[in-house]
Amino acid sequence: MIWLGIESSCDETACAVLQDEPLKILSNPLYSQIEEHRLYGGVVPEIAARAHLQKIAVIVQKAIEEAGISLEDIGAIAFTAGPGLMGPLLVGANFAKGLAKDLGITAYGVNHLEGHLSAAWLSHPDLKPPFLTLTVSGGHTELVLEEPGFKYTLLGRTRDDAAGEAFDKCGKVLGLPYPAGAIVGKLGASGNRKFHAFPRALKHQDNGEFSFSGLKTSVLRYAESHTPEFIQENINDICASLEEAIVDILVSKIIWALKKTNMKTLVVGGGVSANSLLRLRLETYCERQQIRLCFPDRSLSTDNGAMIAAAAIRRAKEHALLNISEVKPWMPLAP
Ligand code: KG4
Ligand code: ZN
Repeated sequence: MIWLGIESSCDETACAVLQDEPLKILSNPLYSQIEEHRLYGGVVPEIAARAHLQKIAVIVQKAIEEAGISLEDIGAIAFTAGPGLMGPLLVGANFAKGLAKDLGITAYGVNHLEGHLSAAWLSHPDLKPPFLTLTVSGGHTELVLEEPGFKYTLLGRTRDDAAGEAFDKCGKVLGLPYPAGAIVGKLGASGNRKFHAFPRALKHQDNGEFSFSGLKTSVLRYAESHTPEFIQENINDICASLEEAIVDILVSKIIWALKKTNMKTLVVGGGVSANSLLRLRLETYCERQQIRLCFPDRSLSTDNGAMIAAAAIRRAKEHALLNISEVKPWMPLAP
């Protein structure tokens, strides 16, 4: 069957066409609203909703054209039901439901975080729970145990900012454009990771909780106590040290959770899973400990339509698709 996946939870208007048997992405275009929000240094919900409204039909049309199919070939639609920004979510949900009604097919709500983890499944289709998951994005940082039947147990999450948010906010303080995560990674790649020791909150606590707000304050104090010229001249080293601190915290908590659950498979998803240092550190650890490590293809780490269709296909294979009324926009992966 052919699936349409629609994602509109934040600042990407995305649509993908996927075939379920054999599993294949036929198209996966998106429109990124980076320019709309750059002036504000973060996503403005009202502006995001309006931009989704302007772009959604264009992107869906593009997905269909690039896949070389016609509307009538679509067997079902998956859309992001939540969590995410309410206005942007409503645009995607209403478009999906309207199109489904028009085509006489069903629209299924998908949890955005389950989408991120399903992006890894696209690269590792033999993946079967139980496994440990880390969803690490601009809005979430959570360690969750996934067991058969889409049973999720929360092991810990951030008490304040998400890791991606920390990358973005610290980057902004350092004068980098929004979203700063990928830029910090790029600049940091050639920097000295020991240039400055930024704090690692909760790192040594015996739990799966994260906290990144102190790091943000620390980077702010650091920027205030140095001249803009010094920051500019040493930006690669500062980014390397910042990235080191965030990745160190993430890896430490993953190791804690792997030991606690005794899991031999780790699945990582979300925008920050594109980070090269995180990938490298986890690859090194997992290889040594003989743990199977599943990342999404780097191009599918950040928000996209393919991950949403993939989540629905994964559920359809287990006869566990959710009705629209069962997926709440504010629903976390695990309570
Ligand atoms: O999953 P995503 O596209 O959107 C949310 O669901 O939040 O994640 C976006 C986040 C942003 O904070 C962005 O800065 C971060 O992922 N990000 C990265 C990298 N690429 C994207 N952070 C660190 N390194 C990267 N290479
Ligand atoms: Zn996301």
